[in-house]
Amino acid sequence: MKIRSVEAFQIYDSRGNPTVECLVNADSGITGVGRVPSGASTGRYEALELRDGDPRRFRGLSVSTAIAHIQGEIAELIVGHDVRDQRAVDLRLIELDGTQNKSRLGANAILAVSMAVADAASKAAGKALYEHLGNGHGDLLPLPEIQIVGGGAHAHRQVDVQDFLLVAMNAASYEESLKVTYDVYRAAGDLLLQQGRTAGVADEGGYWPSFETNDAVLDFMVEAIAAAGYAPGRDCMISLDIAASDLYDGEYYSFLAPERRYTSDEFIDLIVDWCRRYPIISVEDPLADSDWAAWTRLGDRLDARVQIVGDDLFTTNERRIRKGIDRHSANAVLIKPNQIGTVTETIAAIELTRECGWLPIVSARSGETEDTFIAHLAVATNAGQIKVGSFSRGERMAKWNELIRIGRGLGRRAQFEGGRIFERILRR
Ligand code: PGA
Ligand code: ZN
Repeated sequence: MKIRSVEAFQIYDSRGNPTVECLVNADSGITGVGRVPSGASTGRYEALELRDGDPRRFRGLSVSTAIAHIQGEIAELIVGHDVRDQRAVDLRLIELDGTQNKSRLGANAILAVSMAVADAASKAAGKALYEHLGNGHGDLLPLPEIQIVGGGAHAHRQVDVQDFLLVAMNAASYEESLKVTYDVYRAAGDLLLQQGRTAGVADEGGYWPSFETNDAVLDFMVEAIAAAGYAPGRDCMISLDIAASDLYDGEYYSFLAPERRYTSDEFIDLIVDWCRRYPIISVEDPLADSDWAAWTRLGDRLDARVQIVGDDLFTTNERRIRKGIDRHSANAVLIKPNQIGTVTETIAAIELTRECGWLPIVSARSGETEDTFIAHLAVATNAGQIKVGSFSRGERMAKWNELIRIGRGLGRRAQFEGGRIFERILRR
């Protein structure tokens, strides 16, 4: 099943910004597709997304150089290779690029090709993508974390915290977790209208309301859960993505809502206090990606049941995850394929995370496409959790809906751990 030709095009993500779509054409008329997403609160250790930088074309965001790399050097390298040998293709792409962070060819070029090769191989085998990627071992439908309110870099810093997410702890199935989320998302929308706080939706489709403080949003989350008829702390818990690297200047963490500067230890006190006062099950990037020592101190202070997730801290990079494991920095890793740039490295990051007893969470980006690769990746690797933004907008719903279809495909083989997944968190 050899690659015959490789094509690449500029398409647009959910913010309307240019991104890359790649088609890998193989024998027997098989075509695999890969479309790459794009972050806004990107970590500085992420693989590089190659943009043209010409201010007259899409404000510098066009991707013609990345596309030219696919059509030129990359096509030349991989034509003739077997689509079923993902690892060999990915290693050759990494080697061809030759940099630490894929900055020569662009991680957007490399990942689009890598995803398209995986898709082509699954089609060649006549299998669903999750079956192909997981060699038939993937059967765990993930517990969703779904955004109710968006802030930070996704909502012009209306509030400082980037994501206020809902986790349906007691849902007995994936589909029931969506039903609970629907109820809370809608109840939250009704309450915001009643309170005159509706301002719009953030980049991932969560509400972007006018609140004076981050605490007020946390109070509101509890209110919305109760208004939907669920018990906060039992049926539903809150997950936060603080995206703290965006708040940190190397010395202090700064909040605008209300305006205040915190040292690392003061910021740790704040997070610990929130986790005590609110039903919070998970905190992502509670500290900055350079503030390693503070992560260890936070872990020592938090209740062992709270999931501490590194996103910008680890950037889906095995080297950084290993460092975090050595230092007891967290107990979970956010997994975003475009932070590292190939399917092979993404799966390796998930495996490393799990081998060490930590929890992987497969994640979308704030700029998404209609691509559903990550839904398949989550099931293929039995990751157990997924984070795709809110419960609205086509690019988000495409993933939630694909997981319904995957569940249907698995039939009676489908597993769902729901909130019990957090029982796996290592006690320190
Ligand atoms: P991003 O946001 O895609 O803008 O980085 C998602 C996240 O921080 O988890
Ligand atoms: Zn994040």
